[in-house]
Amino acid sequence: MSHIYRTHTCGELRLSDVGTTVRLSGWVQRVRRLGGMVFVTLRDRYGITQLTARADRDPDMFNQLNALKREFVIRAEGVVIERESKNPELPTGDIEVMVERLDVLNPSKLPPFLIEDQTDGGEAQRLRYRYLDLRRPVLQRHFIFRHRALQTARRYLSDAGFLEIETPFLVRSTPEGARDFVVPSRLQKGKFYALPQSPQLFKQLLMVAGYDKYFQIVKCFRDEDFRADRQPEFTQIDCELSFVTPEDIYHIFSGMVKTLFSELLDYDLGEIPLIPYDEAIRRYGIDKPDLRFGLELQTLPPPENVRSFPPLSDFSPEREALVGIVLPDGARLSRKQIDGLGAIVKEAPHGLWGAAWIKWEQDGTLRSSVKKFFDASAQQALMEAAGGKPGDLLVFSGGPTPRIYEAMGAVRLAAISLLELKPEKDFAAAWVVDFPLFEWDEENERYVYSHHPFVMPAKGDFSPDDDLLALKGQCYDFVLNGHELASGSIRIHQRLLQEKVFEVLGMSRSEYEEKFRFLLEALEYGAPPHGGIAFGFDRLVALMVDTPSIRNVIAFPKNNAGQDLMLEAPAAIAPEQLDELGLCLKEEEPQP
Ligand code: AMO
Repeated sequence: MSHIYRTHTCGELRLSDVGTTVRLSGWVQRVRRLGGMVFVTLRDRYGITQLTARADRDPDMFNQLNALKREFVIRAEGVVIERESKNPELPTGDIEVMVERLDVLNPSKLPPFLIEDQTDGGEAQRLRYRYLDLRRPVLQRHFIFRHRALQTARRYLSDAGFLEIETPFLVRSTPEGARDFVVPSRLQKGKFYALPQSPQLFKQLLMVAGYDKYFQIVKCFRDEDFRADRQPEFTQIDCELSFVTPEDIYHIFSGMVKTLFSELLDYDLGEIPLIPYDEAIRRYGIDKPDLRFGLELQTLPPPENVRSFPPLSDFSPEREALVGIVLPDGARLSRKQIDGLGAIVKEAPHGLWGAAWIKWEQDGTLRSSVKKFFDASAQQALMEAAGGKPGDLLVFSGGPTPRIYEAMGAVRLAAISLLELKPEKDFAAAWVVDFPLFEWDEENERYVYSHHPFVMPAKGDFSPDDDLLALKGQCYDFVLNGHELASGSIRIHQRLLQEKVFEVLGMSRSEYEEKFRFLLEALEYGAPPHGGIAFGFDRLVALMVDTPSIRNVIAFPKNNAGQDLMLEAPAAIAPEQLDELGLCLKEEEPQP
């Protein structure tokens, strides 16, 4: 036995090793005594191996093993024997090691929570002791998977001719829709760097510089509100290509995701459909549809007396629609459950009239919440137009588009979980394409970009006299199981067009020249047509390992308030540091 710590890992020994003398090192997971025998489960990154000793054969070793506590780091030497009661759940479950020599390499305080897949630790405690949480096998599996996904993506892109080029973290802010984290400069007092929300402009400049295909697996920083699928710092697989069409992008990046799924999960994602944005809204009420389920929205033919139906009292087919969804076997839902669906339409953010329903009982009778507006034949006609059958429930409502579709899209998602529908497959991906170029910001009464200000308009140009809200951009999202995993576009590569877009967005010449001088200049020095995409890598991994939050696939994540509970960051800095940076803090407002 050559190595002082181990001859094998804790995931390695099998029946074929019986009779061999081995040395293992690792952490004590559990100590169990059964009469005159003691069993210790020893854990490392590779697995779990059972150690044992018997009071009748080796009382001293029995006592030593029995005295071990959770999370002690030990080294054990002994002989591999076949287990009497095997554990088919463990790859090493056929054997155990009869210990002959034991060293405690480092004792441990009692950990504040169980270091096992099923733990009793709350989130705050686990983040505070993240190094203990990360010892749990389930998290170790996530990080081993994440590593493999990184290597696979990197190899795929490198093999496809992409160059991995790093871009700086101390930059000037780029508008990507979120707030920037800023870093004060010591040498240029009163000035600030921003941490990049993404390398967007650098990758475009790399195309101007002729690098043709770029990628980077890169940290991005956004000071935005928290959700299960958002972190203030997260990782993108960021890519850009020259002389490229959207079809090239779909082809290359469908290939990347399909390779990840087939190599890591042995799963075939199949053909990945292209769904125009307008169609996604009409069929699913959302731009990131969960296609594991059918249950499409139905645009219903408005009945003749449509104006007597309160939400459509002003009905105009250009601006409004009657939209329904058939819930298969939904006639069994209780009144309270159905009212809950209607409340979704009524409450924020939708704020519409609510929803009506028609139940088609198994015996053929129809019941409805709105029989005073729709008589039996109108109910039957709506039910049939929506494709319902006996046993089904039709939930429907009317209102302005696209809001009514969005509201009914939220009803669709709620109904999927209410009915506990089984997904038709484990993973369903799609490209959502042809997004609007601009949106209207009601609050500030101005146009805003829908992706970012560098997106090429659909026809390669536009006139400010066009109906700007009807314009599409050459941009696309990759969605998987109802999550936006990636977003990208073909970019504007001519200065005049870029300026025109800035102007629609309400920027003055002096403002955009100040913020984007370098980009506008670069566009005048032979910028090639180019485009790209960025995948949210944490989201991709979280979906692939089937965990509900990206925190479970980020080694040291922040909590909901943006804090690192282990480091206690963010933290105050010393007055001398502030001084050196030329900063002084405002007096705290007195609390009422
Ligand atoms: P976008 O802002 O859509 O596009 O970001 C691309 C992808 O990054 C992921 N993502 C996040 N993941 C975790 N936490 C966050 N806070 C977070 N924000 C975004 C999402 C998203 O789809 N420069 C453009 C890309 C381009 O046009 O090429 C960009 O960053 O999965």
